[in-house]
Amino acid sequence: MTVADRAATAFGETFGADPDFVAQAPGRVNLIGEHTDYNDGFVFPAAIDRWIAIACRARDDSRVVLHATAFDETREFDAADDLSKDANWLDYPKGVVDQFRKGGHAVPGFDGVMVGDVPVGAGLSSSAAVEVATATVVLELTGISMSGPDVALLGQRAENQFVGVNCGIMDQFVSANATEGHALFLDCRDLSFEHVPVSAGDARIVILNSGVTRGLTDSGYNERRSACEKGAALIAEASGETVEALRDVSPELLAAHRNALPPDIHRRCRHVVTEIDRTREAVADLRAGDVAAFGALMNASHDSLRDDYEVSGPELDALVTIARGVDGVYGARLTGAGFGGCAVALARADAVDELVRAVAADYPSQSGLEAEAYVCRAVAGAGRVG
Ligand code: GLA
Repeated sequence: MTVADRAATAFGETFGADPDFVAQAPGRVNLIGEHTDYNDGFVFPAAIDRWIAIACRARDDSRVVLHATAFDETREFDAADDLSKDANWLDYPKGVVDQFRKGGHAVPGFDGVMVGDVPVGAGLSSSAAVEVATATVVLELTGISMSGPDVALLGQRAENQFVGVNCGIMDQFVSANATEGHALFLDCRDLSFEHVPVSAGDARIVILNSGVTRGLTDSGYNERRSACEKGAALIAEASGETVEALRDVSPELLAAHRNALPPDIHRRCRHVVTEIDRTREAVADLRAGDVAAFGALMNASHDSLRDDYEVSGPELDALVTIARGVDGVYGARLTGAGFGGCAVALARADAVDELVRAVAADYPSQSGLEAEAYVCRAVAGAGRVG
Protein backbone atom coordinates (compact mmCIF):
# COMPACT_ATOMS: atom_id res chain seq x y z
CA MET A 1 0.00 0.00 0.00
CA THR A 2 1.34 3.48 -0.79
CA VAL A 3 1.95 5.96 2.00
CA ALA A 4 -0.97 8.04 0.68
CA ASP A 5 -3.28 5.00 0.82
CA ARG A 6 -2.11 4.24 4.34
CA ALA A 7 -2.93 7.82 5.34
CA ALA A 8 -6.43 7.53 3.84
CA THR A 9 -7.02 4.22 5.64
CA ALA A 10 -5.73 5.58 8.94
CA PHE A 11 -7.97 8.61 8.49
CA GLY A 12 -11.00 6.30 8.30
CA GLU A 13 -9.87 4.51 11.47
CA THR A 14 -9.27 7.75 13.36
CA PHE A 15 -12.19 9.91 12.24
CA GLY A 16 -14.68 7.27 11.04
CA ALA A 17 -15.08 8.89 7.61
CA ASP A 18 -13.31 9.26 4.29
CA PRO A 19 -10.84 12.12 3.87
CA ASP A 20 -11.58 14.87 1.33
CA PHE A 21 -8.09 14.44 -0.15
CA VAL A 22 -4.53 13.33 0.57
CA ALA A 23 -1.45 15.53 0.05
CA GLN A 24 2.11 14.28 0.19
CA ALA A 25 5.66 15.60 0.12
CA PRO A 26 8.86 13.59 -0.34
CA GLY A 27 12.08 13.39 1.67
CA ARG A 28 15.35 14.05 -0.12
CA VAL A 29 18.89 12.90 -0.62
CA ASN A 30 21.58 15.39 -1.55
CA LEU A 31 23.94 14.09 -4.23
CA ILE A 32 26.51 16.87 -3.87
CA GLY A 33 26.70 20.46 -2.56
CA GLU A 34 26.75 20.05 1.21
CA HIS A 35 26.68 22.94 3.66
CA THR A 36 26.63 25.28 0.71
CA ASP A 37 22.97 26.39 0.77
CA TYR A 38 23.37 28.85 3.64
CA ASN A 39 26.49 30.23 1.95
CA ASP A 40 24.50 31.25 -1.16
CA GLY A 41 26.09 28.34 -3.05
CA PHE A 42 24.79 25.47 -5.20
CA VAL A 43 23.15 22.19 -4.17
CA PHE A 44 22.10 19.12 -6.13
CA PRO A 45 19.51 17.10 -4.22
CA ALA A 46 16.85 14.67 -5.46
CA ALA A 47 13.45 13.99 -3.92
CA ILE A 48 13.23 10.30 -2.99
CA ASP A 49 10.43 7.75 -2.97
CA ARG A 50 9.81 8.19 0.74
CA TRP A 51 6.98 10.50 1.70
CA ILE A 52 5.01 12.22 4.42
CA ALA A 53 1.32 12.02 3.49
CA ILE A 54 -1.53 13.86 5.18
CA ALA A 55 -5.10 12.67 4.66
CA CYS A 56 -7.39 15.56 5.36
CA ARG A 57 -11.00 16.72 5.72
CA ALA A 58 -12.16 20.30 6.13
CA ARG A 59 -13.91 21.25 9.38
CA ASP A 60 -16.39 24.03 9.82
CA ASP A 61 -14.52 25.58 12.74
CA SER A 62 -10.91 26.74 13.00
CA ARG A 63 -9.49 23.76 14.92
CA VAL A 64 -6.70 21.71 13.42
CA VAL A 65 -6.87 18.14 14.75
CA LEU A 66 -3.94 16.03 13.63
CA HIS A 67 -3.14 12.40 14.29
CA ALA A 68 0.41 11.16 13.66
CA THR A 69 0.59 7.39 13.28
CA ALA A 70 4.36 7.43 13.99
CA PHE A 71 3.66 8.65 17.52
CA ASP A 72 0.17 7.15 17.83
CA GLU A 73 -0.92 10.54 19.10
CA THR A 74 -3.62 13.08 18.27
CA ARG A 75 -2.87 16.73 18.99
CA GLU A 76 -4.76 19.88 18.15
CA PHE A 77 -4.66 23.65 18.08
CA ASP A 78 -6.88 26.50 16.98
CA ALA A 79 -5.73 28.08 13.72
CA ALA A 80 -7.41 31.34 14.74
CA ASP A 81 -5.25 31.70 17.90
CA ASP A 82 -1.82 33.24 18.19
CA LEU A 83 0.32 30.13 17.93
CA SER A 84 3.27 29.14 20.06
CA LYS A 85 5.70 26.26 20.09
CA ASP A 86 5.08 23.14 22.19
CA ALA A 87 8.35 21.24 21.58
CA ASN A 88 6.71 18.19 19.99
CA TRP A 89 5.97 16.97 16.43
CA LEU A 90 2.97 19.30 16.08
CA ASP A 91 5.34 22.30 15.91
CA TYR A 92 6.15 21.58 12.25
CA PRO A 93 2.55 21.72 10.94
CA LYS A 94 1.72 24.48 13.40
CA GLY A 95 4.71 26.54 12.28
CA VAL A 96 3.45 26.29 8.70
CA VAL A 97 -0.06 27.43 9.67
CA ASP A 98 1.58 30.27 11.61
CA GLN A 99 3.46 31.35 8.48
CA PHE A 100 0.27 31.41 6.39
CA ARG A 101 -1.28 33.61 9.05
CA LYS A 102 1.74 35.90 9.11
CA GLY A 103 1.34 36.17 5.33
CA GLY A 104 -2.17 37.51 5.91
CA HIS A 105 -4.11 34.30 5.13
CA ALA A 106 -6.81 32.90 7.41
CA VAL A 107 -6.34 29.14 7.72
CA PRO A 108 -9.51 27.06 8.15
CA GLY A 109 -9.69 24.11 10.55
CA PHE A 110 -9.20 20.54 9.36
CA ASP A 111 -8.91 16.97 10.59
CA GLY A 112 -5.79 15.21 9.38
CA VAL A 113 -3.86 11.99 9.69
CA MET A 114 -0.16 12.06 8.97
CA VAL A 115 1.66 8.91 7.87
CA GLY A 116 5.22 8.69 6.61
CA ASP A 117 8.05 6.42 5.60
CA VAL A 118 10.84 9.00 5.63
CA PRO A 119 12.95 7.77 8.54
CA VAL A 120 12.99 10.38 11.34
CA GLY A 121 16.37 11.75 12.45
CA ALA A 122 18.19 10.06 9.56
CA GLY A 123 19.07 13.21 7.64
CA LEU A 124 16.57 12.56 4.83
CA SER A 125 14.53 15.68 5.64
CA SER A 126 11.42 14.28 7.26
CA SER A 127 10.84 17.71 8.85
CA ALA A 128 10.93 19.52 5.52
CA ALA A 129 8.54 16.90 4.11
CA VAL A 130 6.10 17.53 6.99
CA GLU A 131 6.31 21.29 6.39
CA VAL A 132 5.80 21.06 2.65
CA ALA A 133 2.99 18.47 3.01
CA THR A 134 1.22 20.75 5.50
CA ALA A 135 1.61 23.75 3.18
CA THR A 136 0.14 21.64 0.35
CA VAL A 137 -2.86 20.80 2.56
CA VAL A 138 -3.45 24.46 3.40
CA LEU A 139 -3.19 25.50 -0.26
CA GLU A 140 -5.76 22.82 -1.22
CA LEU A 141 -8.12 23.83 1.56
CA THR A 142 -7.98 27.54 0.87
CA GLY A 143 -7.49 27.63 -2.90
CA ILE A 144 -4.59 30.04 -2.40
CA SER A 145 -2.11 29.71 -5.24
CA MET A 146 1.56 29.91 -4.41
CA SER A 147 4.61 29.04 -6.50
CA GLY A 148 6.77 26.02 -5.56
CA PRO A 149 9.72 28.23 -4.57
CA ASP A 150 7.42 30.29 -2.31
CA VAL A 151 6.10 27.11 -0.67
CA ALA A 152 9.71 26.15 0.05
CA LEU A 153 10.48 29.58 1.51
CA LEU A 154 7.38 29.41 3.70
CA GLY A 155 8.42 25.96 4.99
CA GLN A 156 11.93 27.20 5.69
CA ARG A 157 10.59 30.21 7.61
CA ALA A 158 8.40 27.89 9.69
CA GLU A 159 11.47 25.86 10.59
CA ASN A 160 13.72 28.91 11.22
CA GLN A 161 11.24 31.07 13.08
CA PHE A 162 8.77 28.70 14.72
CA VAL A 163 10.64 25.44 15.28
CA GLY A 164 13.90 27.34 15.83
CA VAL A 165 16.23 25.35 13.57
CA ASN A 166 18.42 27.57 11.44
CA CYS A 167 18.38 25.39 8.29
CA GLY A 168 19.04 26.54 4.72
CA ILE A 169 16.61 26.31 1.79
CA MET A 170 17.69 23.02 0.16
CA ASP A 171 15.40 20.49 1.84
CA GLN A 172 12.10 22.33 1.52
CA PHE A 173 13.01 23.47 -1.98
CA VAL A 174 13.53 20.02 -3.45
CA SER A 175 10.56 18.56 -1.58
CA ALA A 176 8.32 21.20 -3.17
CA ASN A 177 9.87 21.51 -6.64
CA ALA A 178 11.42 18.22 -7.77
CA THR A 179 10.38 16.39 -10.93
CA GLU A 180 10.45 12.66 -11.44
CA GLY A 181 13.68 11.10 -12.65
CA HIS A 182 15.65 14.29 -12.03
CA ALA A 183 17.81 15.87 -9.38
CA LEU A 184 17.47 19.61 -8.86
CA PHE A 185 20.43 21.92 -9.45
CA LEU A 186 19.66 24.96 -7.32
CA ASP A 187 21.42 28.27 -7.04
CA CYS A 188 20.69 29.14 -3.41
CA ARG A 189 21.51 32.81 -4.02
CA ASP A 190 18.71 33.63 -6.47
CA LEU A 191 16.75 30.35 -6.28
CA SER A 192 17.05 29.72 -10.00
CA PHE A 193 17.05 25.99 -10.70
CA GLU A 194 17.24 23.32 -13.35
CA HIS A 195 16.09 19.72 -13.38
CA VAL A 196 18.87 17.36 -14.43
CA PRO A 197 18.09 13.72 -15.34
CA VAL A 198 19.51 11.16 -12.96
CA SER A 199 17.64 8.05 -13.95
CA ALA A 200 19.08 7.80 -17.40
CA GLY A 201 21.67 5.06 -17.85
CA ASP A 202 22.61 2.41 -15.37
CA ALA A 203 23.43 4.48 -12.27
CA ARG A 204 21.44 3.86 -9.10
CA ILE A 205 21.20 6.02 -6.01
CA VAL A 206 21.71 3.93 -2.88
CA ILE A 207 21.14 5.43 0.56
CA LEU A 208 22.95 3.81 3.47
CA ASN A 209 21.53 4.69 6.87
CA SER A 210 24.28 4.57 9.50
CA GLY A 211 21.77 4.06 12.31
CA VAL A 212 23.34 6.99 14.18
CA THR A 213 20.54 9.49 14.77
CA ARG A 214 21.54 13.10 14.65
CA GLY A 215 21.81 14.16 18.26
CA LEU A 216 24.15 17.11 18.43
CA THR A 217 23.28 18.30 14.97
CA ASP A 218 21.67 21.55 15.90
CA SER A 219 24.55 22.94 17.92
CA GLY A 220 27.15 21.60 15.48
CA TYR A 221 25.16 22.92 12.52
CA ASN A 222 24.75 26.38 13.99
CA GLU A 223 28.46 26.49 14.89
CA ARG A 224 29.38 25.70 11.29
CA ARG A 225 27.07 28.43 10.04
CA SER A 226 28.68 31.03 12.29
CA ALA A 227 32.17 29.91 11.27
CA CYS A 228 31.20 30.53 7.63
CA GLU A 229 29.76 33.97 8.41
CA LYS A 230 32.84 34.89 10.39
CA GLY A 231 35.12 33.64 7.61
CA ALA A 232 33.24 35.66 4.98
CA ALA A 233 33.48 38.81 7.14
CA LEU A 234 37.22 38.35 7.76
CA ILE A 235 37.93 37.79 4.06
CA ALA A 236 35.91 40.88 3.16
CA GLU A 237 37.91 42.93 5.66
CA ALA A 238 41.31 41.57 4.61
CA SER A 239 40.69 41.79 0.85
CA GLY A 240 38.52 44.88 0.56
CA GLU A 241 36.28 42.87 -1.81
CA THR A 242 32.50 42.68 -1.49
CA VAL A 243 31.88 39.36 0.21
CA GLU A 244 28.26 38.89 1.17
CA ALA A 245 28.66 35.15 1.61
CA LEU A 246 31.29 32.49 0.89
CA ARG A 247 29.75 32.20 -2.59
CA ASP A 248 31.68 35.38 -3.37
CA VAL A 249 35.00 33.80 -2.39
CA SER A 250 37.03 31.84 -4.93
CA PRO A 251 39.57 29.22 -3.79
CA GLU A 252 42.29 31.68 -4.93
CA LEU A 253 40.90 34.57 -2.87
CA LEU A 254 40.67 32.28 0.16
CA ALA A 255 44.26 31.09 -0.31
CA ALA A 256 45.47 34.69 -0.64
CA HIS A 257 43.95 35.60 2.73
CA ARG A 258 44.64 32.41 4.61
CA ASN A 259 46.62 34.25 7.26
CA ALA A 260 43.69 36.51 8.06
CA LEU A 261 41.71 33.49 9.31
CA PRO A 262 42.07 31.29 12.39
CA PRO A 263 43.02 27.77 11.15
CA ASP A 264 39.66 26.14 11.98
CA ILE A 265 37.69 28.91 10.25
CA HIS A 266 40.00 28.61 7.26
CA ARG A 267 39.26 24.88 7.00
CA ARG A 268 35.49 25.43 7.22
CA CYS A 269 35.70 28.06 4.47
CA ARG A 270 37.92 25.83 2.33
CA HIS A 271 35.25 23.12 2.41
CA VAL A 272 32.55 25.53 1.32
CA VAL A 273 34.41 27.27 -1.51
CA THR A 274 35.71 23.99 -2.95
CA GLU A 275 32.31 22.31 -2.55
CA ILE A 276 30.62 25.11 -4.50
CA ASP A 277 33.05 24.49 -7.37
CA ARG A 278 32.68 20.71 -7.11
CA THR A 279 28.91 20.98 -7.34
CA ARG A 280 28.98 23.02 -10.55
CA GLU A 281 31.57 20.69 -12.03
CA ALA A 282 29.70 17.53 -10.98
CA VAL A 283 26.48 18.70 -12.62
CA ALA A 284 28.38 19.47 -15.83
CA ASP A 285 29.91 15.97 -15.71
CA LEU A 286 26.51 14.36 -15.26
CA ARG A 287 25.02 16.31 -18.13
CA ALA A 288 27.93 15.13 -20.26
CA GLY A 289 27.18 11.53 -19.24
CA ASP A 290 30.41 11.17 -17.25
CA VAL A 291 29.10 9.35 -14.18
CA ALA A 292 32.60 8.26 -13.16
CA ALA A 293 33.73 11.89 -12.91
CA PHE A 294 30.58 12.73 -10.93
CA GLY A 295 31.38 9.87 -8.53
CA ALA A 296 34.96 11.04 -8.05
CA LEU A 297 33.62 14.47 -7.02
CA MET A 298 31.23 12.81 -4.55
CA ASN A 299 34.27 11.14 -3.00
CA ALA A 300 36.15 14.45 -2.84
CA SER A 301 33.08 16.06 -1.25
CA HIS A 302 33.03 13.47 1.53
CA ASP A 303 36.75 13.84 2.21
CA SER A 304 36.34 17.60 2.49
CA LEU A 305 33.34 17.23 4.83
CA ARG A 306 35.36 14.80 6.95
CA ASP A 307 38.68 16.65 7.09
CA ASP A 308 37.85 20.34 6.64
CA TYR A 309 34.24 20.71 7.75
CA GLU A 310 34.47 17.93 10.37
CA VAL A 311 30.86 16.80 10.21
CA SER A 312 31.44 13.13 9.47
CA GLY A 313 32.08 10.47 12.09
CA PRO A 314 33.50 6.95 12.32
CA GLU A 315 30.25 5.28 11.24
CA LEU A 316 29.72 7.44 8.13
CA ASP A 317 33.41 7.10 7.26
CA ALA A 318 33.13 3.30 7.59
CA LEU A 319 30.07 3.17 5.30
CA VAL A 320 31.75 5.34 2.69
CA THR A 321 34.93 3.25 2.77
CA ILE A 322 33.00 0.00 2.43
CA ALA A 323 30.97 1.40 -0.47
CA ARG A 324 34.02 2.69 -2.30
CA GLY A 325 35.63 -0.76 -2.04
CA VAL A 326 32.84 -2.29 -4.14
CA ASP A 327 33.53 -2.63 -7.84
CA GLY A 328 30.96 -0.61 -9.79
CA VAL A 329 30.43 2.06 -7.11
CA TYR A 330 31.12 5.43 -8.75
CA GLY A 331 31.32 7.40 -5.51
CA ALA A 332 30.05 7.65 -1.95
CA ARG A 333 29.69 10.45 0.56
CA LEU A 334 27.74 11.51 3.61
CA THR A 335 24.51 13.30 2.73
CA GLY A 336 22.69 16.05 4.60
CA ALA A 337 24.05 17.85 7.63
CA GLY A 338 26.25 14.97 8.82
CA PHE A 339 26.89 14.11 12.48
CA GLY A 340 25.25 10.72 11.80
CA GLY A 341 22.39 10.05 9.43
CA CYS A 342 22.99 8.65 5.97
CA ALA A 343 25.59 8.16 3.29
CA VAL A 344 24.68 8.12 -0.39
CA ALA A 345 26.40 6.03 -3.03
CA LEU A 346 26.04 6.15 -6.78
CA ALA A 347 26.45 2.63 -8.13
CA ARG A 348 26.14 0.76 -11.39
CA ALA A 349 22.86 -1.17 -11.36
CA ASP A 350 24.70 -4.50 -11.46
CA ALA A 351 26.82 -3.52 -8.43
CA VAL A 352 23.92 -2.73 -6.09
CA ASP A 353 23.52 -6.28 -4.70
CA GLU A 354 27.20 -6.51 -3.94
CA LEU A 355 27.13 -3.08 -2.27
CA VAL A 356 24.23 -4.10 -0.03
CA ARG A 357 25.98 -7.40 0.78
CA ALA A 358 29.30 -5.71 1.59
CA VAL A 359 27.62 -3.21 3.93
CA ALA A 360 25.70 -5.99 5.71
CA ALA A 361 28.89 -8.06 6.06
CA ASP A 362 31.37 -5.38 7.12
CA TYR A 363 29.54 -2.48 8.77
CA PRO A 364 28.32 -4.17 11.99
CA SER A 365 31.78 -5.30 13.06
CA GLN A 366 33.23 -1.85 12.35
CA SER A 367 30.50 0.17 14.05
CA GLY A 368 28.50 -2.11 16.34
CA LEU A 369 25.42 -1.05 14.34
CA GLU A 370 23.33 -2.35 11.46
CA ALA A 371 22.93 -0.17 8.37
CA GLU A 372 19.79 -0.09 6.29
CA ALA A 373 20.17 0.28 2.53
CA TYR A 374 17.51 1.88 0.30
CA VAL A 375 17.84 1.87 -3.45
CA CYS A 376 15.83 4.95 -4.28
CA ARG A 377 14.06 6.56 -7.18
CA ALA A 378 14.09 10.29 -7.88
CA VAL A 379 10.45 11.35 -7.62
CA ALA A 380 8.32 14.44 -8.17
CA GLY A 381 7.82 17.02 -5.44
CA ALA A 382 4.78 17.62 -3.28
CA GLY A 383 1.22 17.50 -4.48
CA ARG A 384 -2.30 16.32 -3.96
CA VAL A 385 -2.59 12.61 -4.64
CA GLY A 386 -6.25 11.80 -4.26
C1 GLA B 1 20.47 20.22 6.54
C2 GLA B 1 19.81 21.58 6.31
C3 GLA B 1 20.04 22.04 4.86
C4 GLA B 1 21.54 21.99 4.49
C5 GLA B 1 22.14 20.63 4.87
C6 GLA B 1 23.64 20.60 4.67
O1 GLA B 1 19.83 19.24 5.76
O2 GLA B 1 18.44 21.50 6.57
O3 GLA B 1 19.52 23.33 4.69
O4 GLA B 1 22.23 23.04 5.08
O5 GLA B 1 21.85 20.29 6.22
O6 GLA B 1 23.96 20.68 3.33
